[in-house]
Amino acid sequence: MSVLSVHSLIDRAVLHFAPTGEWADDPRALALLDDEERARHERFMFEHSKREFRAAHALVRTTLSRYAAVPPAAWRFVKNEFGRPSIDPALGCDALRFNLSHTDGMLCLIVASGREVGADVEDALRDRRTVDVADRFFAEREVRALRALAEAQQNQRFFAYWTLKESYIKARGMGLALPLDGFAFSIEDEEDARPEETPRALRDRVTLECAPSVNDRGDRWSFTRARLSPRHVAAVAIERDARGWAPSIELQRAAW
Ligand SMILES: CC(C)(COP(=O)(O)OP(=O)(O)OC[C@H]1O[C@@H](n2cnc3c(N)ncnc32)[C@H](O)[C@@H]1OP(=O)(O)O)[C@@H](O)C(=O)NCCC(=O)NCCS
Repeated sequence: MSVLSVHSLIDRAVLHFAPTGEWADDPRALALLDDEERARHERFMFEHSKREFRAAHALVRTTLSRYAAVPPAAWRFVKNEFGRPSIDPALGCDALRFNLSHTDGMLCLIVASGREVGADVEDALRDRRTVDVADRFFAEREVRALRALAEAQQNQRFFAYWTLKESYIKARGMGLALPLDGFAFSIEDEEDARPEETPRALRDRVTLECAPSVNDRGDRWSFTRARLSPRHVAAVAIERDARGWAPSIELQRAAW
């Protein structure tokens, strides 16, 4: 495996993704985990949760090693007060940032240089209670936009909002400590993300508006949505620099 170095991330961020089975079923996955990860792995009651966990964390370790001269098993992580992991500063890889997301059947990991990132992947065939959930958790404007759509389009829009909202709270590193109705997304020229075989980034235009309760400016962030499989949709949040520029997102299928 060649090391690309973090400099390869100056003008792009990479969304590495893979079906869970490709990583979970390889004996190398468990061997890469550190003591804390193994303890978490053992605490899962169901085998499918164990598989997803070891696959996701093997993907993080192996992928980060493509950008820095640190072997996969040697990565160490620290967590902020909300549980967000980042690379231990003692490893001297300050610029390298990542965020992991995993769901039934799919793993994804956004990697970037010198800016905050967040990612979320969801199984869009899993849940059909869309409007109920939106009513309880989304911003009023998002609920109105969702309700205005024909029922057949609501599922797709629901998962667009859901993944975008998760990518944002994860990029902020605060998880559900941020009120989900305190920020609202608008999606213009929404691309039809109907199931298809080829993974791709969607080109719709996403903007974010923040209420005072989230203490942020929506234009500080750039968002990209992607379809990763016939079942899975993802969103990535990436911080813009002081001039308002953000790198483009490249999709890469992750292999061992
Ligand atoms: C923990 C949380 C940050 C993400 O949870 P999630 O969507 O279930 O899980 P994902 O697979 O996308 O992300 C999990 C990974 O994010 C990372 N993570 C954990 N806490 C984080 C935080 N505060 N900020 C950013 N990333 C975090 C970890 O790498 C974690 O992996 P691990 O659990 O295997 O160690 C949080 O947002 C949460 O609990 N969400 C609940 C889901 C929900 O109700 N969403 C409403 C959407 S509108």
